[in-house]
Amino acid sequence: MSPAQIPMDNQWLPFTPNRTFKQDPRVFVGAEGMHFTTHDGKKVIDGISSLWCVGAGHNRRPINEAIKKQLDTLDYATAFQASNDKAFKAAQMIADMAPGDLNKVLFCNSGSEAADTALKVALAYHRARGEGHRTVFIGREKGYHGVNFGGMSVGGLPANRKAFGAQLLPRVDHMRFIHDPVNHAYIHHEEPVWVEDPLLELENRILVLHDPSNVAAVIVEPIAGSAGWYIPPKGYVKRLREICDKHGILLIFDEVITGFGRLGVNFGADHYGVVPDMLNFAKAVTNGVIPLGGVICRDFIYDAMMNANSPQHAIEFFHGYTYSGHPVACAAAIATLDLMKEENLFARAGQQGKVLGDAMHSALKGLPNVIGIRTLGLAGAVELASIPGTPGKRAYDIFMDCFHHGVWVRPAGENIVICPPYIVEDAHIDQIVQTVADSIRRHT
Ligand SMILES: Cc1ncc(COP(=O)(O)O)c(C=O)c1O
Repeated sequence: MSPAQIPMDNQWLPFTPNRTFKQDPRVFVGAEGMHFTTHDGKKVIDGISSLWCVGAGHNRRPINEAIKKQLDTLDYATAFQASNDKAFKAAQMIADMAPGDLNKVLFCNSGSEAADTALKVALAYHRARGEGHRTVFIGREKGYHGVNFGGMSVGGLPANRKAFGAQLLPRVDHMRFIHDPVNHAYIHHEEPVWVEDPLLELENRILVLHDPSNVAAVIVEPIAGSAGWYIPPKGYVKRLREICDKHGILLIFDEVITGFGRLGVNFGADHYGVVPDMLNFAKAVTNGVIPLGGVICRDFIYDAMMNANSPQHAIEFFHGYTYSGHPVACAAAIATLDLMKEENLFARAGQQGKVLGDAMHSALKGLPNVIGIRTLGLAGAVELASIPGTPGKRAYDIFMDCFHHGVWVRPAGENIVICPPYIVEDAHIDQIVQTVADSIRRHT
C-alpha cells in the first residue's frame, strides 16, 4: 500500500507534528509479537510497547479470543444503576493485585480520565467527612497525568500547559522536579542517593504557604515516565507518604505507566513498599488492546463516601462514564492479567530490565551528546544535549532515523525512551540499543 492509497486528509493526529507527517508517514497496518508492519511492508520493532501498553506483546490470541467471546455474549450494557459480570471480576482481580487495602476500583477509559476521577474522589471524600475546605492539589514539575483539565493542571510539563494556562484549575501547586543532572546523570538500576532532601520544599514552603489543612491531595508518578523516565532519590516515596499521613493529605500514585509489571512487580507501590490512598491505572491492564483505565481506592475512602448520611436511594458519588467498566474492555483485562500471570511476565520484565539497563549503559555511555542514561525496571532513557535554539530536535531526529532503521523508540523532550514489551528477547534489546547508538553517532 503506498501513502497515496491511504486517505490522510481528515485525521488530526494527537501529539504529532501534523504538518510534516505526510512527507514521511508512519502508518502501521499490522502487528505480531514484538513487531509492527508498516503500510509499505516494513517490519519495525516496537521498542516502547506502543506507549507502555503492550506488555504481553502484540496480537495475543487469548486476549483476542476473550474479546470475541465477550462480543458474542454481552456486547455492552449500561454502567449506571447496573453493572456486568466482567466488570466485577476485573475489579476483583485488580484489587487482589493491589497492595494493602486498595480494594475499590472505579473504572474509566484512560489515564487522563483516571487522573480527573482521582482528583474528584479526593474533593468528594474530604467534603463527605466535613473537610470540604481541602481543595488544594499538589503535583510535581514535569509530572504527566494526561490531558484533561484536572490532570493537566496538576501535571507539570510546560508544553502541555502553555496554551491553556488561563483555564487550569486554581489552587494547584507543584513540587520541584526530581532530577539531579550533575551528580546523578547516570542511574543504572538503583535509586540515586541525594545529599539534600527535595521534599523539604514541600514541608517548609508549599504546605506552609497553603496551610496543610487546606490540601486535598498530592499526586505523583512513582517514576516520572512521560517526561523521560526520571527516578526519584532513595527514600523520597516513603517520605512523601509520611508527610501526607502527618497532615491528612491523600496520596495518589499515577501508575498508568508503572502499573502492571513495568518494574518487575505488580505496581510501583510494591517496588517502593508504599501504599498510596489512590492508585491510577490504564494502558497495560488490557495490553493496550482496548481502552480501560481506573482508580483503585483504599477502603476508608469508599467507606467515608458511603457513610456521608445521604438517603439510601441517593447516589454517593456523582461521577462516572458511559463506558465505565465496559464488558468488552473488562473481558480483555481479565484475559490480559491471566496471561501475564500464566507466562510470569512481570518477573520477566524485571529480568529483561537488567539486560536492557546493561545494554544501554554499555552501548550509549560516552557517545557524542549523551549527557545521561537512566534505567530501572524494563525501561530506560538516554538524555541528549539540546541543540541550542531547537529544543527536542536531536531526540526527534534520532527517533525518525531509528524508525527508518526498523526500530520504534520514543522522543521525550531531549530523551530517547526505550520500554519494550515484557516478552522482549536479548537479541531484540541488542537490536534496539545498537540502532539507537548508531543513530546517535549519525546525529552529532
Ligand atoms: C502517568 C500517566 N498518567 C496519565 C496518562 C494519560 O493516559 P491516557 O493517554 O490514556 O489518557 C499517561 C499517558 O502516558 C501517563 O503516562
